[in-house]
Amino acid sequence: MAKKRVAVFASGSGSNFEAVVSASVRDAASPYEVALLVCDKPGAGAIERAERLGVPVYAVRPKSYASREAYEADVVRELRERGIDFIVLAGYMRLVTSVLLDAFENRILNIHPSLLPAFPGLHAVEQALAYGAKVAGVTVHFVDGGMDSGAIIAQEALAVLPDDTADTLYPRVQVIEHRLYPAVVRAFAEDRVRLDGRRVVVEGGLGL
Ligand code: GAR
Repeated sequence: MAKKRVAVFASGSGSNFEAVVSASVRDAASPYEVALLVCDKPGAGAIERAERLGVPVYAVRPKSYASREAYEADVVRELRERGIDFIVLAGYMRLVTSVLLDAFENRILNIHPSLLPAFPGLHAVEQALAYGAKVAGVTVHFVDGGMDSGAIIAQEALAVLPDDTADTLYPRVQVIEHRLYPAVVRAFAEDRVRLDGRRVVVEGGLGL
């Protein structure tokens, strides 16, 4: 079967982008390939990683468009031109509009470093620490028009240790992210992720 073509959107260092790419490259039978990185931040680490990994980059400057919708319409055109099947947001720090959501309905995934619905938005790990939470975690979910609010596909928790700071907790969160996201992307590419209202079933599980 032909591999699904994935576009990863990233604004930052791109470690999740790299984890998703590497999992597919390691496995000749991977059901997906990362065919494009969309990056909205010039100079972001993700771009360097893409160059090293041989993934084409579409570098965009949202501010140079008349509106968010015009920006996304241009991105959708690029995605269609490259035959992209679905989108993986990996540290893409902007809300998407109905232009992208309608073009890729139920085909946009996101990862967030908290157990949603707790601590959406920016600096989720710092938010959890400031709140005094004893458990932190990672969520992979479908993207809707809200902030980290779509249907949850997978979650994994970890303990917050008494002396944790963001500098000690976040690396442990990222270890989970780098394992969980490729597994979800694989399951999605294999059409094993079923959405029923807000409830999601991964048929056959994630194999973790
Ligand atoms: C990841 O921790 C991801 O969960 C988070 O951005 C980071 C990107 O890291 N996303 C959000 O906070 C979304 N609201 P990376 O650039 O190293 O992959």
